[in-house]
Amino acid sequence: MTAATTPFAPPVSESTAAQPMIAVRGLTKTIGPQKILRGVDLHVGRGETLVIIGRSGGGKSVLLKNLVGLMQPDAGEIWIDGQNIIGMNEREMAAVRRKIGILFQSGALFDSMTVEENIAFPLREAGERDPNVLRQKVGEMLEVIEMEGHGGKMPVSLSGGMKKRVGLARSIIRRPSCVLYDEPTAGLDPVVSDSINRLIRRLQQRFQMTSVVVTHDMKSAFHVGDRIAYLHEGRIYFCGSPAELERSGDPLIQDFMQGRSDENGSSVT
Ligand SMILES: Nc1ncnc2c1ncn2[C@@H]1O[C@H](COP(=O)(O)OP(=O)(O)OP(=O)(O)O)[C@@H](O)[C@H]1O
Ligand SMILES: [Mg+2]
Repeated sequence: MTAATTPFAPPVSESTAAQPMIAVRGLTKTIGPQKILRGVDLHVGRGETLVIIGRSGGGKSVLLKNLVGLMQPDAGEIWIDGQNIIGMNEREMAAVRRKIGILFQSGALFDSMTVEENIAFPLREAGERDPNVLRQKVGEMLEVIEMEGHGGKMPVSLSGGMKKRVGLARSIIRRPSCVLYDEPTAGLDPVVSDSINRLIRRLQQRFQMTSVVVTHDMKSAFHVGDRIAYLHEGRIYFCGSPAELERSGDPLIQDFMQGRSDENGSSVT
């Protein structure tokens, strides 16, 4: 294959470090009668935090699900760590998923398991049985999410912010090089949201994690984003630094940032 047909495949001489962690090209997805994604082009550099904003129902969660192979696109390319995942079989895809943690919008914890058991779950599923290894790794995660001493609690007794943090610990315990966060601060008060944002930043600094953060919360977007992408009508309408977004005089972007509804009266947030 030539570089022309695989635009994100690096030339042989180029080092892995120079490849983007995620590169998406021409991604389209139709569900039923709805054209959700209409040609998404996007890249996320190694160690970078890319924030995706956009209207509710615009396809942000669908895009994330495509990135981890939980949904198949109709057309386009998805390159993860230099490999096109389109058409991969389950075994190949499992190896790719190992590199990517995802914090789902629902964040669902297992209600019948303690915090520690929830966090350890992906390790157990991967075959780890040594109690010392499990204890040490779970302990490290509890420290990262600042929840030491809460490991024995059941999810029902946790606040919303604590549940999000436990969900996050579960997503990262196998040390993925990339984490996708779907609305990590939704429904949380500003103080708890701020602690989640700081946690996302800390993970980037401590583990050089690449992150994609989908959010409605503009304060979070500016706090965590190295770049911010605006998904609009199935395409990336804008992608740039927080400062570039702020300076943008584009009326669509201004309306979105200020939460103004469009001429049809529907909400833009
Ligand atoms: N599994 C599915 N089956 C049918 N339609 C779906 C499915 N998943 C998503 N959709 C539709 O695709 C569109 C985009 O949904 P998606 O969840 O990606 O939006 P979103 O941008 O994440 O919205 P929000 O900000 O509210 O989370 C919606 O119209 C939704 O109803
Ligand atoms: Mg969503």
